[in-house]
Amino acid sequence: MSSDAAKREAARAALKFVEEGCILGVGTGSTVNHFIDLLAAEGPSIRAAVSSSDASTQRLQEHGIEVMELNSSGDLDLYVDGADESNRLLQLIKGGGGALTREKIIAAASRKFVCIADRSKLVRALGAFPLPVEVIPMARSYVARKLKALGGIPNWREGFVTDNGNQIIDVSGLTISEPIKLEDTINAIPGVVTVGLFARRGADVLLLGGEDGVERIDR
Ligand code: A5P
Repeated sequence: MSSDAAKREAARAALKFVEEGCILGVGTGSTVNHFIDLLAAEGPSIRAAVSSSDASTQRLQEHGIEVMELNSSGDLDLYVDGADESNRLLQLIKGGGGALTREKIIAAASRKFVCIADRSKLVRALGAFPLPVEVIPMARSYVARKLKALGGIPNWREGFVTDNGNQIIDVSGLTISEPIKLEDTINAIPGVVTVGLFARRGADVLLLGGEDGVERIDR
């Protein structure tokens, strides 16, 4: 089974968490793209979606799904999103697509976070995937030096601008043995908008698509 087919199966499995008439939080990425397409084709009809990126907003609207601002929706029952890595505690690295800030906000505002991915995303320890950090542009070099002091190798995602007008530094070489501590440490650097470690608020349910079907892991 290709990784794309595995993502699609995980996305399909998330449909059963969606309640008719709900306002649904929707993440970003290739796995979520499958989820949006499947939701429109065979899922329950929802009242509206709160979207984590301009790309997902466009895709939702192309399917005729209304997109609502989080400021108007209030807290959500369910958020569905992908991840770049997950450990068995359902702590995640996210932001490969650059949408980490809005993703973190919607995850925080949601009672349940269902994460969908192919099985390759499940890792023993987070950190093989470079950790994305969204920064205010004028702070980029300063934050990079601080990330270096933490033992990481910072790499500016040159030419990429987030939906919030900021920049991304991808940090490789970090040993993430204490994800919550590292999330707090990086969050505290002036100029950091969001770190792509979702450890304090990880997923509640992880659905992993693979050869033998979809594996479900609960937090
Ligand atoms: C977007 O910023 C990311 O957090 C995505 O959720 C993550 O990169 C997973 O993407 P794929 O579903 O494309 O693997």
